[in-house]
Amino acid sequence: MDQSKFKGRSLLTWLDYTEEEIRYLLDLSGQIKTEAHSGEIKRRFTGKTLALLFEKRSTRTRCAFETAFGEEGGHPVFLSTQDIQLGVKESLEDTARVLGRMFSAIQFRGFKQATAETLARYSGVPVYNGLTDDFHPTQALADIQTLEENFGPSRGKKLCFVGDGRNNVARSLMVICSKLGIHFTVITPPALNPDAALTAGCAPLAAATGAQIRVTADLGEVAGADALYTDVWASMGEEGKKEERARLLAPYQVNQALMDRTGRGDSIFLHCLPAVKGEEVTPEVIDGPQSRAWDEAENRKHTIKAIMLATL
Ligand code: CP
Ligand code: NVA
Repeated sequence: MDQSKFKGRSLLTWLDYTEEEIRYLLDLSGQIKTEAHSGEIKRRFTGKTLALLFEKRSTRTRCAFETAFGEEGGHPVFLSTQDIQLGVKESLEDTARVLGRMFSAIQFRGFKQATAETLARYSGVPVYNGLTDDFHPTQALADIQTLEENFGPSRGKKLCFVGDGRNNVARSLMVICSKLGIHFTVITPPALNPDAALTAGCAPLAAATGAQIRVTADLGEVAGADALYTDVWASMGEEGKKEERARLLAPYQVNQALMDRTGRGDSIFLHCLPAVKGEEVTPEVIDGPQSRAWDEAENRKHTIKAIMLATL
């Protein structure tokens, strides 16, 4: 792979990347993980700076970006909406222009996908989407790395997302699975189906790789799945919808009975975290032998480092 293809690029959604490019990043992340576990120290971000912009809270994403960048000699700067003007008092375009003069790259976590796009357009440096209402692409890369650590090459594997099918995590998984030829089923009540435009947009991508992308309310569709994945019932910014979601999603809780319906003792459980144990997943499953949620959290750091190494 011609590595110069990555230089200077943003990651706003996997829709902008080819299968081959995603494959390259997964392989690079695997190498980075091996190096990290051997204690090898490298200084690949020396002299570089990273702005970490947060409108929403974060544990994993912030810590992954900050430690991955800092331990390689880079200087990350955390900037929440308490610290800087982000669309108030100064236009977002102007903030982007100024950040682009001072930083090598920008991570943005917040509400609107359009904010990440504007930052990318006006800063002139790579912008990494660390979660918006629409997408959570860095998460999806770590999820696929975790799937592959358990089952080898992911093409043809079956991943089921059980829960709020219209959220950022489900949407990003739909895109990356379509690109990589992974069979992906969203199991959700019809009121929470992923939006039709995204499903339609993924259809030709899936056709090209042989991925079967399905949306259903039928929990029986977990049969044969390599992995069941869930996420919180109400995402950040949707706190007012908690009761309605609990009503809709209680039947979709991932518990041991549902794990058993895969019919495979080796199927694994994935969760982006943070988890509300007792709601979308039982403690028995997330803390049990089939859970890979903690490997998945660790892989956030390796995949994020891979994305930054490739693009900086
Ligand atoms: N999975 C994830 O993005 O976690 P944080 O919200 O803690 O960053
Ligand atoms: N869907 C969740 C993911 C958190 C990592 C949220 O947006 O809150």
